Amino acid sequence: MKYTTASAVALAVVVNGLPSQTQKQQPRQAGGACASAVTLDASTNVWESYTLHANSFYRAEIEAAAAAITDSALAAKALEVADIGTFLWLDTIANIDRLESALADMTCDDILGLVIYDLPGRDCAAKASNGELAVGEIEKYKTEYVDAVAAILKANPNTAFALVIEPDSLPNLVTNADLATCQASAAGYREGVAYALETLNLPNVVMYLDAGHGGWLGWNDNLEPGAEELASAYTSAGSPSQLRGIATNVAGWNSWDAVPGEFSDDPDAQYNAAQNEEKYVELIGAALASAGMPNHAIVDTGRNGVQGLRLAWGDWCNVDGAGFGLRPTADTGSELADAFVWVKPGGESDGTSDTTATRYDSFCGLEDAYKPSPEAGTWNQAYFEMLLENANPAF
Ligand code: BGC
Repeated sequence: MKYTTASAVALAVVVNGLPSQTQKQQPRQAGGACASAVTLDASTNVWESYTLHANSFYRAEIEAAAAAITDSALAAKALEVADIGTFLWLDTIANIDRLESALADMTCDDILGLVIYDLPGRDCAAKASNGELAVGEIEKYKTEYVDAVAAILKANPNTAFALVIEPDSLPNLVTNADLATCQASAAGYREGVAYALETLNLPNVVMYLDAGHGGWLGWNDNLEPGAEELASAYTSAGSPSQLRGIATNVAGWNSWDAVPGEFSDDPDAQYNAAQNEEKYVELIGAALASAGMPNHAIVDTGRNGVQGLRLAWGDWCNVDGAGFGLRPTADTGSELADAFVWVKPGGESDGTSDTTATRYDSFCGLEDAYKPSPEAGTWNQAYFEMLLENANPAF
């Protein structure tokens, strides 16, 4: 990841139904998924029937991390994290292979969370997560990445999957359209996201399109263009039945319901009514409904346990002092919010603080960013221990 959020930029640019039963209650198979094909009804909240799977990839990271902790009480707490459901990021073509072991210990009560994250020219407004595919490599994205993932999901019809589609991509086209890099990426993002939505629209899949967070598309002037950008991807994909809505706060830091909101004292807070994610889900939800797109949400609460750490709302890299947040649950208290989920695997870095690295982004060198930090996606033991110690609720 990541994005430049933008109060200033945004301003300058100026710019239910009753839940029906989800089919899944099949007897559990030893070491397997369900006994028969899973059909997810995306007009309902599937998180009421399924639990986000604690995947083996993150489990292995946690077990290694716990083994490296000498304080036995802290090590025991670390191991508790291994049992918490977390999304698995398919961030390169090669890492699609990680799916295999994640599938091996699925049960019929579980839903496997996957992040689709490999667009050409990825992370156009930042450097930390620039990807393997260059602008223009859209055919490769379609055939070697999306089609390859789709083939695995099809080959596992008895398994339920929840997908977060391409974090930061469309939001960047809304607020960072002035950057040459985002201009260059725009056509590929639009085509790629629509292709992913269309191709991954399978009966055993529910999809959520990334919508940034309240400090990004939540600015009053960004809500409508944001909703229109997302809705246009949905329509271009042929209005896929398995798209349930949006993912918000992915790898983010915003509180779900802090009132009046972490940045409400900022002079420009008057231009943003989405001061927490609950408000954001409500406001973007209304804008999405007007734009004709399904508007339910899942919200990443993996690292939002502590507030008041960021010097600016747009600071996104390895925020220092952070703590694990609310555990995954469908009990959100909001009809529009299907679930709190952990999307960013806490402990994996947002970006390197090594100023000489090609993917060094200045946000990772800010005063409120934890240092030293390794390359995006790689493990940062000290950061993990900090998240654990500052967890809220505590472990
Ligand atoms: C990185 C990915 C990584 C993901 C989850 C992103 O910021 O670019 O490589 O898989 O975070 O940690």
